[in-house]
Amino acid sequence: MNLILKIWRQKDAKAKGTFVTYKTEDVSPEMSFLEMLDALNKKLVEEGREPVAFDHDCREGICGSCGMYINGHPHGPIPAVTTCHLSMRFFRDGDTIWIEPWRAKPFPVIRDLIVDRSAFDKIQTTGGFISVNTGSALEANSILVPKKNSDTAFDSAICIGCGACVASCKNASAMLFISAKISQFALLPQGRIEAKERVMSMVHKMDELGFGNCSNSGACEAECPKEIKLTNIARLNREYYKAY
Ligand code: SF4
Ligand code: FES
Repeated sequence: MNLILKIWRQKDAKAKGTFVTYKTEDVSPEMSFLEMLDALNKKLVEEGREPVAFDHDCREGICGSCGMYINGHPHGPIPAVTTCHLSMRFFRDGDTIWIEPWRAKPFPVIRDLIVDRSAFDKIQTTGGFISVNTGSALEANSILVPKKNSDTAFDSAICIGCGACVASCKNASAMLFISAKISQFALLPQGRIEAKERVMSMVHKMDELGFGNCSNSGACEAECPKEIKLTNIARLNREYYKAY
């Protein structure tokens, strides 16, 4: 496939960015989106030009670092996949593809398609954990958990912290992210002990860092690559009211 790429280039957080057009040839439908960008960068380096900076690590859909806007959608137009799992077979010969970084004030652009998502780490360190001496693993049945609760907690725990929910939200709200973290602990007995402190500190940190509130547009759920549900936000609100 021959494609036209319109890629956001920005030297650093203070520089003014702009879209730059690149033509790519011989893109295989078997390539992943990041492999297509690798091939573009190889060509740019060979030509003595500056490669496009983008973030990635696992390339397996689990680390959450590969977020970027592709044709107006976080992680691209295919539901429930991360950018690293996005296949080029979903594009057609001659397509023009627009590629941009996350657009949200709490995620400033570091360079090109890379944004600083350390605001999520700051929220996570205020309460996204349980305080226990781990020691050796307990016998599996020593703390009984209803199957429904363990399944729902697991569904929340698969949030990879990619930030697509924030990028897709008109309020740059981090509520879906936080609600996933709150839910994974709130549904388990081990997480109940610090539940009040956890929800208060994580929500207050979110506000302090400049994330907006939820206004129920549902864009976050629609764009989340891990299909984290809005019902988690309802649970977060209930946890917050209980703690208040
Ligand atoms: S809730 Fe979804 S979109 Fe938001 S950080 Fe977690 S995985 Fe990414
Ligand atoms: S590179 Fe890790 S989720 Fe995409």
